[in-house]
Amino acid sequence: MEAAVAPAVRGLRAGCQRLCYGAGSERKWSLQSKQTSFRFCSTGMTLDNINKPTIDRIIRVDHAGEYGANRIYAGQMAVLGRTTVGPVIQQMWDQEKDHLKKFNELMVTFRVRPTVLLPFWNVAGFALGAGTALLGKEGAMACTVAVEESISDHYNSQIRTLMEEDPEKYKELLQIIKKFRDDELEHHDVGLDHNAELAPAYSLLKTAIQIGCKAAIFLSERI
Ligand SMILES: [Fe+2]
Ligand SMILES: [Fe+2]
Repeated sequence: MEAAVAPAVRGLRAGCQRLCYGAGSERKWSLQSKQTSFRFCSTGMTLDNINKPTIDRIIRVDHAGEYGANRIYAGQMAVLGRTTVGPVIQQMWDQEKDHLKKFNELMVTFRVRPTVLLPFWNVAGFALGAGTALLGKEGAMACTVAVEESISDHYNSQIRTLMEEDPEKYKELLQIIKKFRDDELEHHDVGLDHNAELAPAYSLLKTAIQIGCKAAIFLSERI
């Protein structure tokens, strides 16, 4: 029985770790395991009692989205890193790194496999970031507005799903998603503040990117 337990799970068990999310901007995480069943802080989210297909889908697609966002900002920084908007983009990228780190942890805790499309999002994300940045800083910001609007809408629909399922059981996960949704909305507003709407063919560009985001979400939830 013991031999069948995955190494990552054994590691968690050995460390008698507990996963907790602190309130406010300060996030405090520690890990705890209880036999093979992981409890998600004080509410009852364990491997045994969650709606596994729903949680799998949510964590997989969110991990893919945050991974893609990191690649987009990497592409933007490659082109605009040394310009006046470099520090602004870097700050948003740093938050995306935090988001991705959290979903990496959740994937281990809830034994969710990543989407098979990660290698594709790696290239496509960077190309989108660099490509729009080549249109100028307004192009990069238009990309940010389009992507962040799609991601925050998507997070909102996940919040609705989890609220309908069981708001108490999924309390910590809801806290994480709401916090990240707020960060994405902030990025969206930063984009607008930095003249996203002055990008060449702004409406067309935004629509095209958002169609791509919808397709990416659809695929990453499923494969
Ligand atoms: Fe993010
Ligand atoms: Fe973001």
